[in-house]
Amino acid sequence: MPAFSAEVEEKRRAARAHADAIQERLGEEAFLDWFDRLYADAAQDEAPERIPWADLAPHPLLTEWLQKHAPHQGKALEVGCGLGDNAAALSDAGYAVTAFDLSAHAVEWAKKRFPDKPIDWHVANLLEPPQAWRGQFDIVHETYTLQSLPPGLRRQAFAPLAGFLKPGGRLLLICRIRPEEVTPEGPPWPLAPSELAELERLGFVRETLRPVILKSTRAIPHVFCIYRRPAAEETEKR
Ligand SMILES: C[S@@+](CC[C@H](N)C(=O)[O-])C[C@H]1O[C@@H](n2cnc3c(N)ncnc32)[C@H](O)[C@@H]1O
Repeated sequence: MPAFSAEVEEKRRAARAHADAIQERLGEEAFLDWFDRLYADAAQDEAPERIPWADLAPHPLLTEWLQKHAPHQGKALEVGCGLGDNAAALSDAGYAVTAFDLSAHAVEWAKKRFPDKPIDWHVANLLEPPQAWRGQFDIVHETYTLQSLPPGLRRQAFAPLAGFLKPGGRLLLICRIRPEEVTPEGPPWPLAPSELAELERLGFVRETLRPVILKSTRAIPHVFCIYRRPAAEETEKR
């Protein structure tokens, strides 16, 4: 994985400090509003470098998976799409993409960045998603949204996330990981193995759990996971 340049690292450090300052002003009860405030603030000055996670490129692990497993077809859902690069990569690969984020400013910005892509953009909350999306998607992709939710809120996110897939569909998940015994001091809050296991408790089959170290100023443990919702006949056999 590429290391970021010192200049980019400096921008990301400044962005993190800026983001923390906004979060402190808001207080914890308004946690979910924090994202929209951050995007609104950066959009006003057209300054994506103020969004700490915005690489303005698809995640390299998603790109690698898309290249290795082509051709792609069917419906994909991009969760917490941010500025839209992963949604655009899924669309370019051949999926009919629906992408959503809690932040209206993020979705507006993503639309402007990718005006020619046939992506169905929405403002929606993963914790209370539209019913119409239940069981609709062949692929659900989520990078860094679960880890951006404090553990209490995150517990509420697994069931809706699992509910988006058709039988036989796959969830691609990229996140930071931590040892079970370490208490995370987020944001972000890396996931523990027991949290990932929630998807298996919800009936999913884990196909891939690949530990990856991504390097910035330090080496950060991540995982790339793929979970499959069993096809109807598999569920009957169980
Ligand atoms: C750390 S960012 C990652 C953005 C994007 N996935 C990426 O990798 O660049 C987390 C994103 O999830 C969005 N988000 C946070 N909570 C959400 C929720 N409950 N429902 C939908 N989106 C949410 C935030 O607005 C933000 O864009």
